[in-house]
Formats: sequence, C-alpha cells, structure tokens
Amino acid sequence: MTLNVALIAESFDRAKKENGGLRTLGLRFYERLFEKYPSVRHLFTAPPEEQHKKLMASVGAIVASVTNPEVMLPYLRAMGIRHIAYKTENGHYGAVAENLVAVLDEHLSKEGEWTDEMKANWEEALQIISEVMIDAAAHPEQYETELTAAGYQADGFKSNNAKPWELVIS
Ligand code: HEM
Repeated sequence: MTLNVALIAESFDRAKKENGGLRTLGLRFYERLFEKYPSVRHLFTAPPEEQHKKLMASVGAIVASVTNPEVMLPYLRAMGIRHIAYKTENGHYGAVAENLVAVLDEHLSKEGEWTDEMKANWEEALQIISEVMIDAAAHPEQYETELTAAGYQADGFKSNNAKPWELVIS
C-alpha cells in the first residue's frame, strides 16, 4: 500500500489536541504496554513521566521528517542502534506497534473518528519504522558513515548530552 502521510500527520495533530493531548496518550501507552505485555516491563527503568515525553517527541519527529528520508533514515537507524543498549528484541516491535495503534484508537475515538484507513496507515508506517530500526541494529557498522555525517556517534547517541529523540530539521 502507498502510505497516506497526510492522514498520519493529521491524526497525530488531532492526538495533540484531543482527550488531554500527548501526555494522556503517552501515559496510556505505557500503562497498556505493561498490562498487555508484562514481560517487557523490566526493560524500562526511566520514570513513565520522562518516558512518554521521549516517545511522543520521537513519533512527532518521525511524522515531521517523513517526506525527508535523508533526515528520517539516519534518525531511525540511530534510534534502532540505541535500542541494542535497551535490550530490545526484534519480537518486541510487533507488541509496541500493536500497542501504539490501540492507544491511538482509544485516544482519537473519544472526541472524533478513528477509521480503518487511519489504522491501516499507522500499522504500515510502524512496520516500516520497525524494519529500519531492526535492520540498523543488526548491522550498525553498515551505517556508521551515514550516522557520523548526521551527527550521531557509533552507538546512536549524540555527543554533548544532546537528546537524540529530538529532531532538529535545519
Ligand atoms: C516504533 C518503535 C520505537 C520507537 C519510535 C521508540 C522510541 C524510543 C525513544 C524515543 C526512547 C528514548 C531514548 C532514546 O531515544 O534513545 C526509547 C527508549 C526505550 N525503548 Fe523504545 N522505541 C521503539 C521500540 C521499542 C521496542 C520494540 C522496545 C522493546 C520493548 C523498546 C524499549 C525501549 C526501552 C527499554 C527504552 C529505554 C527506557 C529507559 O530508559 O528506561 N522500544 N524508545
């Protein structure tokens, strides 16, 4: 399927405004993730209050850079490589994607519509994101030049304590 990028961006914009915004969505994401997939809980050590802001910042960054692959790809690859340190397994990506789609459904159904088309597009986008992250984590050496050029270290982090989940598009 061809990704309907505008529909994804539009629904994420709605998520910011509706039902308590990204804070509600982000906190619900972790609440549901740990309920439904208790085996991943031990991987998360940062408090949910910090966690949800980082996750939502990264989803926002992905949505903002989606038409700009030369920015988005190194961003996603660096994120995939950072997840090696978080002990993420490839099999967890399906759970995270299922969970994000489910909480988006809950969130956007409160004040408006959540359609099958939105669901299909978010699923497809998350599939692509997961594939790029998993591939980079499997072959980090292959992407070293690209990541260095984009300002990331070999471990996917940035120097000077810069927050790698925040994306500044210049
Ligand atoms: C769509 C895919 C994913 C996205 C966009 C995403 C995003 C993020 C972001 C932005 C961070 C903050 C730290 C950083 O940027 O390095 C993070 C941390 C983390 N992620 Fe993910 N992630 C994804 C998939 C997963 C999966 C599949 C798992 C496995 C359960 C996972 C587990 C973790 C853990 C354990 C941390 C560190 C938490 C801590 O510091 O306590 N992530 N993720």
